[in-house]
Amino acid sequence: MSAQLQASPAYGTFEVELLCGAGGAEVRGLDVSKPLPAATLAELRRALADHCVLFFRDQDLTPEQQKAFALQFGPLAATPFIKPLDGHPEMMRIVREADEKKKLNFGGRWHSDMTFDAAPVLGTVLYSRESPAVGGDTIWSNQMLAFDTLSHGMQRMLEGMTVMHSAKRSYGPQGTYADDDLKSMRISASELALKETPHPCVRTHPENGRKILFINWVYAIRFQDMTEEESAPLLEFLNRHSQRPEFQIRFRWKKGSLAFWDNRSTQHLAVNDYAGYRRVMDRVTIAGDKPYYKP
Ligand code: SIN
Repeated sequence: MSAQLQASPAYGTFEVELLCGAGGAEVRGLDVSKPLPAATLAELRRALADHCVLFFRDQDLTPEQQKAFALQFGPLAATPFIKPLDGHPEMMRIVREADEKKKLNFGGRWHSDMTFDAAPVLGTVLYSRESPAVGGDTIWSNQMLAFDTLSHGMQRMLEGMTVMHSAKRSYGPQGTYADDDLKSMRISASELALKETPHPCVRTHPENGRKILFINWVYAIRFQDMTEEESAPLLEFLNRHSQRPEFQIRFRWKKGSLAFWDNRSTQHLAVNDYAGYRRVMDRVTIAGDKPYYKP
């Protein structure tokens, strides 16, 4: 066993190598195409809460096998506003063709998945079918660390605040994707995206009890009972704070890599630096609970 593996926390049913100070753990010794024993699933749940993102290399998965892996952690949640992969209503294919000239890429701004929902997803399982020779990494940011590193005064203030989340800036009639020609993604802008949903600004992790800064650039649009304009300066500060380099976990994809992230405690961003290469990812999301704050 390597020095890094010895330095990593002990799990009885697999080995892990920790990737970054902020989190990220490469899990070794599991074939996730097959059903996993209950003891392994329990340890994976603990590892996910502790390390925010789990990575599995060299997996050979059909869409059915990817869905079956995710289903072991809870029911799947379909992604609204985006046409699913044919024959797989709960799965989305994220494609960017080598010749796409648009400035945008899907998921290219810091966000947590679907926080516009009353019960945003617990986690996301993303699988690489085709990766650029160089570029196209994904970066996550650990929002438990983002909360821990705020001053006590700021923490106390935020603990009493509620933030309104909405998909309108992405999927609303005037949203980023409304007249965009991200031609390989099948996105439908809609009035349904205008709905606003309240969430605590600080949520408690249901498994490890840690406090999480729960805002993001894309979906957290204002504080409750304040206008967007009034909310912008504090949200701007929090959004900048939440993506500090020391909170980040960066992963270089290869065909067959799988990432499983804790969507409750992280934000993420797909890096847009691979013009000229094709990138194809399959994504499923696992249903989550309504966020809550416990003092
Ligand atoms: C996403 O935001 O779900 C996409 C992440 C990626 O493509 O790396």
